[in-house]
Amino acid sequence: MPTVDDSVNVMMTHLKKVADSGKAFNIHPYFHELTMDVICRIAMGQRGTRQFENPHVDVCKRVFAHFGVDRLSTFAFLFPFDWFIWCLRRFAFVTANLRKAPFKELLDILRKEIKERKELRVEGKNVQEGDRIDFIDLFLDAEASEISDHNGDYMQNKGSLKVAKKMTTDEIGAQCFVFLLAGFDTTANTLANTMFFLAKDPERQKILQSEIDEVCSDEDVTYEQLQSLKYGDAVMKEALRMIPIAAL
Ligand code: HEM
Repeated sequence: MPTVDDSVNVMMTHLKKVADSGKAFNIHPYFHELTMDVICRIAMGQRGTRQFENPHVDVCKRVFAHFGVDRLSTFAFLFPFDWFIWCLRRFAFVTANLRKAPFKELLDILRKEIKERKELRVEGKNVQEGDRIDFIDLFLDAEASEISDHNGDYMQNKGSLKVAKKMTTDEIGAQCFVFLLAGFDTTANTLANTMFFLAKDPERQKILQSEIDEVCSDEDVTYEQLQSLKYGDAVMKEALRMIPIAAL
């Protein structure tokens, strides 16, 4: 919560600057910067805010520019058979570097970051004072300890069936990849669409503003206060109903 709060405050200073200029501007990139900032700080161990200087934003935008509209995806939609998709996936990975595919670029960046974090762990320098534990730490803990899975009945009757599972670096990279992409565009688009609808509807914008002023009267907003923004919740849901996100 304090991390999200801080990133939102930083976005507000950026927004204030451009709003004070009195000219119309596109709000969408500000939300892209915000969502990436929050994900990188919470999940990827980024220290402090990096809005408008985060290299992940550009590569993730390029991933989405291809997502679902490139030729490989078109073939996958046209011929949704397991064996065919398997071949397409192999082809996509083998030729990724040749095609300069953004998804491969992102995967490589994430693998490098995870590798660096592993090295810092070995040296015992992975945590600085005041750091919060992030998802990479949790995944690396999972990598370090073997997860045993056994069936009690089976053990009682027929002996032991143990399945040892460790997360590989590739699996951790894949988890970070999904997490980064899943939260980035969805949240930024939902916020931007909501702002668009509110800008077109000053009356309802006013109702929402009054609710926020009433519920969140202090400077620091709490999680409980956010939970009680009933009208705000309805506004977000209506925006998602009108333009469903990730419907593909
Ligand atoms: C307005 C915001 C969001 C919308 C509309 C949205 C929508 C969706 C949808 C429709 C799915 C597919 C569910 C299915 O398979 O039926 C999904 C999956 C998922 N979302 Fe979101 N999402 C949002 C925000 C986020 C955020 C902030 C994160 C995390 C940072 C996230 C992480 C995930 C993950 C990990 C999956 C599962 C992917 C998988 O394993 O298949 N999402 N989301």
